[in-house]
Amino acid sequence: MGPGRTVDQVWPAAPRSGARTRAEWALLNREIENCRACPLGSLRTQVVIHRGSLRPRVLFVGEAPGASEDQVGIPFVGPAGKRLDQLIGRLGLLESEFAIVNVIKCHPPGNEFSEGAADACRPFLARQVEFLQPIMVVTLGTAALAAFRPDLVPILGSAGRRFRWRGLTLFPLVHPASTARSGAFRRRWEADGAALSRLLSRLGAGGHAGTGAPSRATV
Ligand code: URA
Repeated sequence: MGPGRTVDQVWPAAPRSGARTRAEWALLNREIENCRACPLGSLRTQVVIHRGSLRPRVLFVGEAPGASEDQVGIPFVGPAGKRLDQLIGRLGLLESEFAIVNVIKCHPPGNEFSEGAADACRPFLARQVEFLQPIMVVTLGTAALAAFRPDLVPILGSAGRRFRWRGLTLFPLVHPASTARSGAFRRRWEADGAALSRLLSRLGAGGHAGTGAPSRATV
């Protein structure tokens, strides 16, 4: 597979038909756990697959697990996750309304995002999106945005705005970890998060009381 392929280009050739089953999800998770298509599969402590609902309205897509996620096996449980959880709380999304995944499923040493690992994982991301069937994908950071719509990079020109991808709403945000590095990114995260909140209200999602602690899956 060549570098820089998008989720579009690895979208399952034969669309899945019939109801989504727990068995189908379990099989996908087993395939991800057993994947050794790139070196990260042998370097990680735990594979990091998914957090939240299996019927989400909103799917957040991050870049790759950090050291905390590698230990726990759940996306966004470290410092960036706290920032994301605060936003999800402000959006008023119930546990049943959102899910979180990453482009890369295994922690890259030194947090180096590699296109090779992203390419290896992209078919899994496509199948996760196809299974979860959200109405909206919120990408977190440049690499997550590029996985869907590389034409929308650089991210600062696109974050906080609404786009289409395969009939879904695509809403890019800067990565929550970037807010710790720069005041400008922090302000951007807040302003674009407020724009997302307004959009969700118009779409009739969110607006509930805050969410609880991270857990692996709810249906
Ligand atoms: N950053 C990400 O992009 N994903 C995680 O799961 C944690 C930090």
